[in-house]
Amino acid sequence: MKTYRVAILGCRGRGTSAARAYHAHPRTEIVALCDLVAELLNALGDELGVAARYDDLDAMMREHEPDIVAIPTGTEFHYPLAMRILQYGAHIDIEKPLCVDCAEADEVLAKAREKNAQIAVHHQGRVGVWMKAVAKAIDEGRIGELRHIHGHGKMYYGGYNLMNIGTHMINNMLKVAGKCRAVSATATTDGHPITPQDVVPSPQGMGTIVGEHITATLDFADGVSATLLQHHFPTGVNPVIEFCGTEGRVVLSQLVWKQACGALLLPQPHYALNNEREPYEPLEPEFCEGYDPESSAHPDDYAYVDEYVAALDEGREHECSGTVGHHVVEIMMGIFESAAYGHRVSLPQADRSHPLLRWRKEHGLPPPEPMPRPLAEWNVAEAVRLGRGA
Ligand SMILES: NC(=O)c1ccc[n+]([C@@H]2O[C@H](COP(=O)([O-])OP(=O)(O)OC[C@H]3O[C@@H](n4cnc5c(N)ncnc54)[C@H](O)[C@@H]3O)[C@@H](O)[C@H]2O)c1
Repeated sequence: MKTYRVAILGCRGRGTSAARAYHAHPRTEIVALCDLVAELLNALGDELGVAARYDDLDAMMREHEPDIVAIPTGTEFHYPLAMRILQYGAHIDIEKPLCVDCAEADEVLAKAREKNAQIAVHHQGRVGVWMKAVAKAIDEGRIGELRHIHGHGKMYYGGYNLMNIGTHMINNMLKVAGKCRAVSATATTDGHPITPQDVVPSPQGMGTIVGEHITATLDFADGVSATLLQHHFPTGVNPVIEFCGTEGRVVLSQLVWKQACGALLLPQPHYALNNEREPYEPLEPEFCEGYDPESSAHPDDYAYVDEYVAALDEGREHECSGTVGHHVVEIMMGIFESAAYGHRVSLPQADRSHPLLRWRKEHGLPPPEPMPRPLAEWNVAEAVRLGRGA
């Protein structure tokens, strides 16, 4: 059985998580690390015993010819780095979201096809312990026929929430509902319907965004619909998705790990508020075979690596493939377009440019002025822009 040779390009938080999972999996071996920051490179290299350390990705690619390159960098660097790495013909594991607009995502997919490379987008929750438990319950018919999905993101500013957390949530919805045909959305900023002046650069380099509160509707095949709320809350909230069927409901609490429970089943289609307690049933987490809970790897990252190994062995796409990640970008851009223009957007959209930059241009406006990249400073700058004071 082939051992896949892996390089990690970017050794901060997400690179460390990815590296721990590739290190723990018996079918993958980390052969090289790359980062521009020596302390990060050395910390990860020392932790995992990887001697080959680079600050020049081309030198790393030439000298090691890895099968898979993980690209866990800031989102604005996904497109240029993916294009550079794909040039070498390596498979890529790219952090989410795949890219900041459809045009970039199209090019990355086309380059991967040209090079016969498999893209996996790091939506690890889709193959993770709790989403697997949810999908199993739905597959077993425990909620009957799926009718509707409802989800809300974290507490972040809506447009940023969509790009950062919504990307995971949409991918989980796609797992059980299939392709999305159309989206409709409304958005407000500071209590008023969004205007082109409310289009801003995202915190953390996630492209161009709009909307403090976004409410979106997604239409899937077979008449299934979803509502997705990306609302700015004053305090922290866990993203939650509820899958509603003809005979029951199942609730997924995203981003939980060592909590006692991340998924609950309600074996009845509607809430009966006169009950003292709803008869919720906790679902068992579905751990990937071979996962060692004593390892430093997160079980969802481990499952994602395990799926990559299986996909490459079988010559098929990863469950969190570039194709799916590309569709997620189309949905997110469709939500922005619908909120801006006030119409339903059928997917895939013909115009692949960023809808918010297009909207501004049509109103005679240039791209928005730069804002601070770090989230805390960005929040202050946005509060000042809205006249709320810092
Ligand atoms: N999947 C998840 O659960 C999850 C969670 C949080 C964040 N993310 C995603 O992860 C990404 C950010 O990850 P992070 O916070 O670890 O990133 P980061 O931007 O903080 O760190 C990236 C590292 O990559 C290095 N780097 C960047 N360009 C390089 C180059 N050309 N050559 C060598 N090194 C380079 C930087 O020096 C830095 O150390 C975002 O896309 C975000 O959406 C995913």
